[in-house]
Amino acid sequence: MNKLLDKSTAKQLIINGEYVEAPTYAPLFSPYSDEKIADIAMADQALTEKAIEAAYNSRKVIGNMPAFQRAEILENAARILTERAEEAATIISNESSKPIMFSRGEVSRTIETYKFAAEEAKRIHGETIPFDAASGGIGRIGYTLREPIGVVGAITPFNFPMNLVAHKVGPAIAAGNSIVLKPASQTPLSALFIAEVFKDAGLPAGVLNVITGPGSVIGDVLVKDERIKLITFTGSPSVGIGISNKAGLKKTTLELGSNSALIIDKDIDIDSIIDRCVMGAFSNQGQVCISTQRIYVHQDLYEEFTSKFAAAAKQLKLGDPLAEDTYISSLISKKELERTLDWIEETKKSNAEILAGGYAQNGVLAPTIIVNADHALKVSCQEVFAPIVVVNKVDSVKVAVELVNDSRFGLQAGIYTNNVQHALYASKNLEVGGVIINDVPTYRVDQMPYGGVKESGTGREGLKYAIEEMTEMKLVVWNQ
Ligand code: SIN
Repeated sequence: MNKLLDKSTAKQLIINGEYVEAPTYAPLFSPYSDEKIADIAMADQALTEKAIEAAYNSRKVIGNMPAFQRAEILENAARILTERAEEAATIISNESSKPIMFSRGEVSRTIETYKFAAEEAKRIHGETIPFDAASGGIGRIGYTLREPIGVVGAITPFNFPMNLVAHKVGPAIAAGNSIVLKPASQTPLSALFIAEVFKDAGLPAGVLNVITGPGSVIGDVLVKDERIKLITFTGSPSVGIGISNKAGLKKTTLELGSNSALIIDKDIDIDSIIDRCVMGAFSNQGQVCISTQRIYVHQDLYEEFTSKFAAAAKQLKLGDPLAEDTYISSLISKKELERTLDWIEETKKSNAEILAGGYAQNGVLAPTIIVNADHALKVSCQEVFAPIVVVNKVDSVKVAVELVNDSRFGLQAGIYTNNVQHALYASKNLEVGGVIINDVPTYRVDQMPYGGVKESGTGREGLKYAIEEMTEMKLVVWNQ
């Protein structure tokens, strides 16, 4: 049995390629069964600094490694992960309560993310500059290089504990950087597993360090330490804004939340989109930054859509994340369940109507569909991060676009339409980082640029784009 799945062994930190003890350990419990699944090392300031020092000392080792060798390490990691895919999926489901069918999907995506990183490692390049376009440039030639930024501080969330680690570790290694990784407190095992995979893949000691423990202590050290040149963070807007305020001149890539919306125009075949809407609103218990939280349906299709959508939601199987047919399991914590039930209570006191769900069954929040929800309700205007979706009627795409844009967030939006003019109008006018035409906003493949505007963050992930963030441009000018 993998020692990460062995409940009796304490899980140490990984610093400079070694397992390192922490002064204290905290129990980690399954969000679904409440069973203790591990004891996790709680790093303090001194151990975080030790990890930064290891990353700092190894930055030249990885920075000077030829691109083809960095690519080989990433390919090795993808191969090892393929061989250990079921183990990896079980770890994800154990610690996060992600249903196993979705954990397997996450592992497949993680493998692909590392393969993309391997490919991108081989095509990091600058460009030649036409110096003679300026009168002062006669007789000069020059070009840009992209150099590794140095040490990357990566702070990752619980909702995709393996693939969102890959979105930080993959491009960092591809670009020739070393990393200090702080995984979410509820999902440290996936990150420790990946560090084990990279050790076997041939990554030099010190390039990937994993520090588990209290986010406030570790995050603060990472953000303030001058040896770290970039913080890449996925998580809540409030934490992201805090990082940005403290980071000073340090670069930041911030992938924050959203209340993503879908527009359904008239003349759409509702039967053909129900499965995607179910996936968009309820997969991973709605704990996805691009989860479909608001749906604006043309009035001609509203009755048909809401009845078919509610019928489909009621069919979903709730329960144990390790059961093959479970579609929805526990939210990440009891506190989150209480918060979402409070938000549902708020809607019950309004004119809104609950068409499906609205309650918890054995600690699992049932997929919940709310109609006629006022814009000011929390389920509409804040990020719900749960299997809850609000559906409202609109009379035009123009009105729907205005409603989508009436949000603090702007990550992705989707529109189903058969009208090219409406698709063009939406893609031009939606204030988001990505417009998905004829699909839900909950669409992501791992090489595409991914990131938001407004309070959804700054910078872009997707391997090529993350590598741009994780490298510095250097100009070289020759006087002939
Ligand atoms: C996220 O929640 O931001 C990640 C979504 C995804 O990778 O599918």
